[in-house]
Amino acid sequence: MTQTPPHRLRDLDPLPRLGLVCIVLTLLGGTLAAGTHLYLHQQNRDERPGLSIDDIKAHYHGISSPAPLLEALKNGHPETLDAGDRQTLIDWLEGDRVSADYDNLDLGDAAPSEIIADNCLACHSRSSTGENAAPAVPLDYFDDVEPLSISRDIRPVSVEILAASTHTHALALSALTLILCWLGLHTSWPRPIVGVLVALTGLGLLTDIASWWLTREWIGFAWAIAIGGGIFDTGAALLGLLVIADLLMPRDTTRS
Ligand code: HEC
Repeated sequence: MTQTPPHRLRDLDPLPRLGLVCIVLTLLGGTLAAGTHLYLHQQNRDERPGLSIDDIKAHYHGISSPAPLLEALKNGHPETLDAGDRQTLIDWLEGDRVSADYDNLDLGDAAPSEIIADNCLACHSRSSTGENAAPAVPLDYFDDVEPLSISRDIRPVSVEILAASTHTHALALSALTLILCWLGLHTSWPRPIVGVLVALTGLGLLTDIASWWLTREWIGFAWAIAIGGGIFDTGAALLGLLVIADLLMPRDTTRS
């Protein structure tokens, strides 16, 4: 039974070890940069700040959801609202001056902030109490109202761009991962540990990239992108660290 491969990283001379440590460090740094780029580039895909599963869904599948405020008003909530005021709020939300007109002084009593103060804050203030109150959905300030006023209709990335992205990522990432795995398999770490890492990293990569296409059709696969990508990143980072650690270990003199 061969428990360790014939050529191991820690049997190398100091200079090739130094070179390999630098290369793997660069590779890990590149992965980190790719992650940062992804975060900055994709976090606004769903038109809401922060990276979430909706950004992935928006990018690969597209998202369409009406603003919660608009939906509530159109569904007749609250029953007590005057029909004219309701229409004023709906027109405001459907227009493109949501932020500009919110507390526009020129609108007088027809300013959305006034209508909301008169008709909503009894229930929708942080300090609202009572049976029908909803202090968990505050509407006191524009900062509260704005996120509820955004309708989204986001088209997914085009097939051309997805194909181009798959082409570069699938080739580059698989080549890099192959080298990382090959290096990992030439360390003196216990075989089962390296084996599990290689398996997870490979599975993560395939799941991630295959799911880019599956998500186009079935939105649930957005989770496979997130989970596959996470497993791939973690596996690759751990393999890189194991390789570096092995290269820094003293030569094993018990083996000839
Ligand atoms: C009589 C009390 C009352 C009044 C008045 C009222 N609401 Fe509500 N509203 C509620 C309750 C209760 C809910 C459900 C809260 C929940 O789901 O946690 C709700 C839910 C909502 C939601 C849904 C929030 C979500 O997350 O989907 C919106 C939007 C909303 N109200 C807007 C308004 C607006 C705009 C007005 C004024 C024009 C208004 N409400 C007036 C009690 C009220």
